[in-house]
Amino acid sequence: MTKVRVRQHVNPLSQKYQIPVSPPDWTKVYAQTTQPLHLDIGCARGEFLFEMARLQPDWNFLGLEIREPLVDKAKTLVAELGLSNLHFLFCNVNSSLTPLLNSFPTQTLQRVTIQFPDPWFKKRHGKRRVVQPELVATLATYLRAGGEVFLQSDVKIVAQEMCDRFDEHPAFHRQGEDWLATNPLPVSTEREMSTLSQGEPVYRALFLKSGSEAGGN
Ligand SMILES: C[S@@+](CC[C@H](N)C(=O)[O-])C[C@H]1O[C@@H](n2cnc3c(N)ncnc32)[C@H](O)[C@@H]1O
Repeated sequence: MTKVRVRQHVNPLSQKYQIPVSPPDWTKVYAQTTQPLHLDIGCARGEFLFEMARLQPDWNFLGLEIREPLVDKAKTLVAELGLSNLHFLFCNVNSSLTPLLNSFPTQTLQRVTIQFPDPWFKKRHGKRRVVQPELVATLATYLRAGGEVFLQSDVKIVAQEMCDRFDEHPAFHRQGEDWLATNPLPVSTEREMSTLSQGEPVYRALFLKSGSEAGGN
């Protein structure tokens, strides 16, 4: 079998990642398109989502990932397992989020996770980080009122910067003032498990979108 080399990092600002993805026909992807949608941004191999999709069959799950070989593999596994509430898309979330969310039935986006995004430590690489003001504004537009955004990172400055971006937006309200001691979700990501197994801290925060569940966007 040919082994496909998967790059550790790709530069999301390079020209080839600026073309927005064409959303598929969701009625051909999910068995129930109106189920609540959980979006996982930067899902890598998607192991977190495979487990979540198994635990919560009455939700739809979508993983977005910029490294295409990982997405191809995850999609093959979805087909082999015959899952109808899980899908993966190869895209740069920073150029594809608006057309993607616009293609879903309104009021379906209910949970977003951004877990251990690439830190891009150097100051001049700050624009390569996933959580930019435009991404937060798009989530504020499409997330259902009362919907949640769960963030975690092993790099404190990255976790803090993500929180600052969401704090700056009037639609989002952080739950509690401190880092969450535990993960509110029933499944840990690969990076989370490896960080914890090395005895390193994980910085977690949960934001809710304002408004009552009956109203809002
Ligand atoms: C450090 S990994 C964490 C993977 C997983 N969330 C976890 O916690 O184990 C971050 C992932 O985000 C992906 N990523 C980074 N920037 C992205 C972007 N602009 N759009 C989509 N995916 C991106 C990377 O390719 C990588 O797979």
